[in-house]
Amino acid sequence: MSNRVYNFAAGPATIAVPVLEKAQQELLCHGADGMSVMEMSHRSGMYLAIYERAEALLRELMAIPENYTVLFLQGGASMQFAQVPMNLMTVTGTADYIDSGNFAKNAIKEAQRYGKVNVVGSTADIAYSRIPEISGVNDEADYLHFTTNNTIFGTHFWQLPQTKAPLVTDMSSSILSKPYDVSKYAMIYAGAQKNIGPAGVCVVIIRNDMLEREPMAFTPTMLKYQTMAKAGSMYNTPPTFGIYMAMLTFEWLKELGGLEVMEKMNREKAAVLYDYLDSQSYYIAPVEKDSRSMMNVTFVTGDKDLDKKFAADAAKAGLVNLAGHRLVGGMRASIYNAMPKAGIEKLVGFMDDFAKANPKA
Ligand SMILES: Cc1ncc(COP(=O)(O)O)c(C=O)c1O
Repeated sequence: MSNRVYNFAAGPATIAVPVLEKAQQELLCHGADGMSVMEMSHRSGMYLAIYERAEALLRELMAIPENYTVLFLQGGASMQFAQVPMNLMTVTGTADYIDSGNFAKNAIKEAQRYGKVNVVGSTADIAYSRIPEISGVNDEADYLHFTTNNTIFGTHFWQLPQTKAPLVTDMSSSILSKPYDVSKYAMIYAGAQKNIGPAGVCVVIIRNDMLEREPMAFTPTMLKYQTMAKAGSMYNTPPTFGIYMAMLTFEWLKELGGLEVMEKMNREKAAVLYDYLDSQSYYIAPVEKDSRSMMNVTFVTGDKDLDKKFAADAAKAGLVNLAGHRLVGGMRASIYNAMPKAGIEKLVGFMDDFAKANPKA
């Protein structure tokens, strides 16, 4: 425990210590089951109990209405960039997409392979420094796709896009960070490796009427939501240990008091960093205030060499993975649910010391 660093990675990311400790305790032998979770048949009663608990806890935490199906899939959030259009862009063959960052762009590029994509907003021209205004939405589109939280650029949709089309969102980097009203979405998906657990699981929450859409004829059996929904995510072997880790994370969140409590903690944590950024002039926070993410905080010194030195010196001080994404440079502190406030306070102290020790030319 004592040699654990503060890990600000964007994902795979830091996992809550009580979750890791529980997994460690149960690693060799899970309860009275006589084996590790990794060794259980996914069809066994002992494993199904874990799976069902994971789903029930997620439903409880997110207040997921009954007319939604929860799936635990593989292929990461990136697989959803293809699975969403293959399964859902099948009524009119058109969908609206918002271009709010790199992953949004990847989703657009993939969807363009399957139908007509109408980009209804983009901030590519201003380096994605805020959430785009949208215009020209098509209420008849098969869905509107957007990325709730833009991990690389540090922006978040605080207001939902206005359309009558069903909303489909990539919530990979902010799911469980606060309550979201699931009933406003037709589908939510999220790769696990930020707020849910280790990489290898992708959570899909889909309204049942969307499951009735007939997938494109060539859609592989494995990639049809219908297949996985009918089979309770077990058409084939699911990522059993990843789902167990997700279940432990959901238990931890429930014990903390649920998502309202988590949001309060996240707001306080993010404020420590943003208040500091706003109080000085050495570091620049490029994101416009009303688009700021609580999960990924980006900043630069304005000098690429200093930025590099910052990340290297921070790592020596036990604050690791603070270099910005390779596409954008600068710095990024990913402060997901599992990052304690003490880690952010230590980061701010380091930032202040670094600024004093490294005056700009
Ligand atoms: C918002 C968002 N969408 C999609 C992805 C891609 O996820 P995966 O690597 O699980 O495919 C990421 C990864 O960081 C992400 O942050």
